[in-house]
Amino acid sequence: MLYINNLTKNYGSFTAVDRLNLHIPEGDLFGFVGPNGAGKTTTIRIVCGLLKASGGTVRVGGTNAAVGSKAMKRLIGYVPDFFGVYDNLKVREYMEMYGSMYGMTYRDIARLTDDLLELVNLSDKKEVYVDTLSRGMKQRLCVARAMLHNPRLLILDEPNSGLDPRARVEMKELLKNLRSMGKTIVISSHILSELAEMCNSIGIMNRGHLVAAGQIDDIMQQLAGGSRIHIHVLSETEAAVRLLKEQAKVRVESVRENDLIITHSGTEEEICALIGSLIQNQVILTDFHREEGSLESLFMQLTGGAQ
Ligand SMILES: Nc1ncnc2c1ncn2[C@@H]1O[C@H](COP(=O)(O)OP(=O)(O)O)[C@@H](O)[C@H]1O
Ligand SMILES: [Mg+2]
Repeated sequence: MLYINNLTKNYGSFTAVDRLNLHIPEGDLFGFVGPNGAGKTTTIRIVCGLLKASGGTVRVGGTNAAVGSKAMKRLIGYVPDFFGVYDNLKVREYMEMYGSMYGMTYRDIARLTDDLLELVNLSDKKEVYVDTLSRGMKQRLCVARAMLHNPRLLILDEPNSGLDPRARVEMKELLKNLRSMGKTIVISSHILSELAEMCNSIGIMNRGHLVAAGQIDDIMQQLAGGSRIHIHVLSETEAAVRLLKEQAKVRVESVRENDLIITHSGTEEEICALIGSLIQNQVILTDFHREEGSLESLFMQLTGGAQ
């Protein structure tokens, strides 16, 4: 559904998104996680055709993203990270305004407005001024108007920020509902745990790079599994693998000729002892390093350091 290939965005000499590759299959509820400044909004704005990429390509359902592309606008419903101010505009008028931007007839807009307001639980607010709604209601209204033109892909940028716990639960239920209606959904957040319960797949972004992506179960397992370590041995690979498999806190993830990847759930001292015993067993190591930004520490950084 959404293919991002080598996407890069430079702001002057600063690279906000650095050769990002991501594929989101149709029907996914995808969580896009990363601390503030990771590059989520930049990526989303490029995907929505609101910002020009410095390099790489984005395709949605076979259509190439380009700034101002009408075809892309039809495919995507976008809920930005700010709501805006709408002086003297009622909920119904707000929906009419956005519907007419998509060239819809007032009859279609009226019919869909009723259906969508019901979906987002705002039916009784139709004649209420937008500016008087609570933040949670505004967010749900924004989802309703993003759905007006029946997009295939719905993208929400930090829809939960500033919402109280109850409004968050309502947003979660709404997104699950939309997914069951066949929409592909991307939701960004700087809090991993918030997305973990509702998304089926996630991508974790940090400083313009995607540091992990996949099915939520696999990622959570990796998070719980400890450090990933790369080992390169010059000889005695079999002996090394045998020895590693005997260790209680080690899991051998992959063996490719002389390159091994393991996860280690023990302490620094235990990792140190492991290197010692490999050497004692005549295994010649030329490399033993932890994967950069291990998921465990990243998880701590993302969830512990969240604002
Ligand atoms: N218009 C801009 N000009 C210069 N730098 C920008 C601009 N927009 C965003 N940035 C920088 O790009 C980085 C990524 O920002 P952003 O995509 O908003 O991240 P996120 O949405 O993950 O918080 C940040 O360091 C931010 O300061
Ligand atoms: Mg952002």
